[in-house]
Amino acid sequence: MEKNFKRTLVTCALPYANGPVHIGHLAGVYVPADIYVRYLRLRGREVLYVCGSDEHGVPITIKARQQGCSPQDIVDRYHNIINDSFKALGINFDIYGRTSSKVHEKNAAAFFRKLYDEGKFVTRESEQFYDPEAKTFLADRYIVGTCPKCGHEGAYGDQCEHCGSTLSPEELINPKSKLSGAEPVKKKTTHWYLPLQDYEQWLREWILEGHKEWRSNVYGQVKSWLDGGLQPRAVTRDLDWGVPVPVEGAEGKVLYVWFDAPIGYISNTMELLPDSWEKWWKSPDTRLVHFIGKDNIVFHCIVFPAMLKAYGDGFILPDNVPANEFLNLEGDKISTSRGWAVWAHEYVQDFPGKEDVLRYVLTANAPETKDNDFSWKEFQTRNNSELVAIFGNFVNRAIVLTHKYFSGLVPPVGELQDVDRQTLGEIPALKESLEKNIEGFRFREALKDAMSIARLGNKYISDSEPWKIAKTDLARTGTILNVCLQICADLAIAFEPFTPFACTRLKGMLNLDGAEWDSLGSQDILEEGHRLAEPELLFEKIDDAAIQKQLDRLDAIRAQKEAEAKAEAARKVAPAKEECSFEDFEKMDIRTATVLEAERVPKTDKLLKLTIDTGLDKRVIVSGIAEYYSPEEMVGKQICILANLKPRVIRGIESKGMILMAKQGDGSMRFITPQECVVNGAQIG
Ligand code: 2FM
Ligand code: ZN
Repeated sequence: MEKNFKRTLVTCALPYANGPVHIGHLAGVYVPADIYVRYLRLRGREVLYVCGSDEHGVPITIKARQQGCSPQDIVDRYHNIINDSFKALGINFDIYGRTSSKVHEKNAAAFFRKLYDEGKFVTRESEQFYDPEAKTFLADRYIVGTCPKCGHEGAYGDQCEHCGSTLSPEELINPKSKLSGAEPVKKKTTHWYLPLQDYEQWLREWILEGHKEWRSNVYGQVKSWLDGGLQPRAVTRDLDWGVPVPVEGAEGKVLYVWFDAPIGYISNTMELLPDSWEKWWKSPDTRLVHFIGKDNIVFHCIVFPAMLKAYGDGFILPDNVPANEFLNLEGDKISTSRGWAVWAHEYVQDFPGKEDVLRYVLTANAPETKDNDFSWKEFQTRNNSELVAIFGNFVNRAIVLTHKYFSGLVPPVGELQDVDRQTLGEIPALKESLEKNIEGFRFREALKDAMSIARLGNKYISDSEPWKIAKTDLARTGTILNVCLQICADLAIAFEPFTPFACTRLKGMLNLDGAEWDSLGSQDILEEGHRLAEPELLFEKIDDAAIQKQLDRLDAIRAQKEAEAKAEAARKVAPAKEECSFEDFEKMDIRTATVLEAERVPKTDKLLKLTIDTGLDKRVIVSGIAEYYSPEEMVGKQICILANLKPRVIRGIESKGMILMAKQGDGSMRFITPQECVVNGAQIG
């Protein structure tokens, strides 16, 4: 049974303040949450919208170290960048707090302390890696070494970013501390753990039995965690950045970032509403909804609920967790470290006034049920062919024609014809579908419903041709434009959750303030004689040059990545060969020689025919080096050859001997030359 809640608390995953947010974050979490909140507010529901920066965790300390500043400097910088870009995109939380705030530090510590006092934790001693020079325990990320899977030298103790393998520090070859370069040693340490297994049965009943309506990706992930059996989970870490563990004897330990971050939702609410926050967190009349990305599912559906359950005291649990999958960019996984992303703060600078376009495209293509791809071409097409050509074009025609034929006053609606009735008659069903879709967290479908209203209007005005009818029947023109203007007003309401900036402009043109959701489809939002403001373009085309600029930036990143991969491959050394005897070696007649002539072997890409002076004779060698050297480059060069290799006929040319080449890991080759010029025929050995 659907429960009737009085209010909704919407939280968005707290982004880590160690980098700006990108389109993957926006599509996964913040744009859908914003649509949901705007919709609920349009419907007059009581909503609180909470987010903030997640300012603890090891990556922040690493970034600070890399940049030679303090973790606080890092989080201050990114907190502001992230906050500004959310605002610029119309994502206006009631509070955008910070987990480095005093309120949070106190609240998270008190939360831990209550569980500690009530014996809800277990302690465990374990061996952790320790840097004997820096005299500190090392998080996995602070240990680097060679990846056992791909040989990459900069693999981390938890992951190789080169081949994507998940690793443990024990697996790294030649592990080193990132702090001092010393080899880490194992040292005993004690931590507090939440025994998640004690909550397993309760979680099963609450989610697997009680929330079958959750998205299948969320439900499925929860089920597989529960089926796999839960283990105690450490909630503290040996680190010097975070909320200090508020217990004697815990010096040098902080709360694990995934313990303190979700408590941040509560702290931020407390910060905003010190006197009434409990209404939002402890009333069964409040519906809690967490918007997150798929990598956060376990924390929001298992760990945080278990923490709240352990705490008791009336804390509510999420009623839904509409987690999205991931968004890729131009066919590749978004990667912050590689710069393969479209950053929110850069987008708003590159496309001023086009905030809605990004919101629209990220919703139309949202990764709701599977990973999806963002491409700049699609971005352009959706803007030019949908927002401009359908929505914008319809609105523009309706308003411009009203100014032209009726001096900007809403004309009277005369007798309706079938086509008018049919058109208007479709709107209530679209409204209902839009409502169902938003309330069911199907934002892509909801956007299609809104767009269907725009398509309907655009088709109606095109088919009715009021500009032609105006020559003979102004009253009918008035009726058509009245119908069109009512649909424009419907659009100003229906699109508000998706494209709020355009809707504000549209309401401005229609001189409409405060249109309510329920008036959508009512056919009388704008009264006869109501004065419209001057028309302006609702959306503008995006030209090829603007798109090309973005593609060029990505091409440059791809090229750099390829160059790095090549250099990395080139550094790889082939495994050692089997032992050979001195006699074996002695059999080889290796000598210096000089290239006299060089030419390509016709109809081949790889072969050069070289005529060389060996000191003994003049001879021809056919060599597969054309990919690396042009004939001109080879002429005059002193080289080394294996002179007594049995002659072979290659492409009809007898080749006598072989040029000695140094072959690199990527297959590329360079010829060997004596450091100083020596006579031809000098023996090497
Ligand atoms: O994945 C992330 O970006 C985390 N910083 C999300 C934290 S959500 C919440 F628990 F605070
Ligand atoms: Zn690897």
